Amino acid sequence: MQRIDGAAIAAKVLEETKTRAESLRKEGLRPGLAVVLVGDDPASRAYVRSKDKKAADLGFHSVKKELPAATSQVDLLAIVAELNADPAVHGILVQSPPPAHINEAEIVRAIDPRKDVDGFHPVNVGKLAMDDPSGFVPCTPLGCLRLLTESGIETAGRKVVIVGRSLIVGKPLALLLMRKGPGGDATVTVAHSRSKNLADITRAADIVIAAIGRPHFLGSDHIREGAVVVDVGINRVDDPSSPKGYRLVGDVDYEAVVERCAAITPVPGGVGPMTIAMLMSNTVTAAERLRSATCI
Ligand code: GUN
Repeated sequence: MQRIDGAAIAAKVLEETKTRAESLRKEGLRPGLAVVLVGDDPASRAYVRSKDKKAADLGFHSVKKELPAATSQVDLLAIVAELNADPAVHGILVQSPPPAHINEAEIVRAIDPRKDVDGFHPVNVGKLAMDDPSGFVPCTPLGCLRLLTESGIETAGRKVVIVGRSLIVGKPLALLLMRKGPGGDATVTVAHSRSKNLADITRAADIVIAAIGRPHFLGSDHIREGAVVVDVGINRVDDPSSPKGYRLVGDVDYEAVVERCAAITPVPGGVGPMTIAMLMSNTVTAAERLRSATCI
């Protein structure tokens, strides 16, 4: 059984990213990332802080905006417009999900697609669907793919079942795995909360990717002997014995399936660190592209 070490692979991606950022710095360009949080959801706040901290660690210009839950749509649109116009900012991320009164689709459309390092803007979603490499690909799916390729896990011709159909993970990951070429060429099935006989579907998979956001949703019945499991879930569950009062668990019951897997990502320490590393990489890509665009 191979335990896929997301922290080690993320460190490698961050090292590459740092080198790319340093060569931009030599040309006088400092990559800039803005992360925006609306509201006080504790998990979102923790994610935004670690994104901001990682950007600062890499020497990026890092802007963190933590806005009250009552922030209006108009005010949030104005902040996005300000960041779009700021030449020191190359990447913009608005943490999802925002409070219920915010129209998230409108916010995403307001972000300049050239600064949309999340890859959520319709232009970037379209480019991914059309195999146009000039767009941005969402960070978590990119991270999942990199975990597989770095671990020597072949996707070509293999049956991959993704559990979850979100815009952030399930849908873009299906598109990535379907692409022609390395890290693609898979036979992809997307299952979700309304799928019938889910265990029958996942047991047919060579690779199961769990991205449904429910703690321990998949157990030993769902995973066949010798399968690869990528667990995207990061769920907080109450744990009075832990100092924080909670612990993080995945969408997969790790203990129940670990012995039957060929390879598995742990939670924490699997996909989580990769998402942040790919965000940093996308930010440097945005800076490189915006530089080339202004040179022409
Ligand atoms: N919420 C959970 N994952 C993500 C992500 O990758 N980007 C944004 N903006 N919000 C998220």
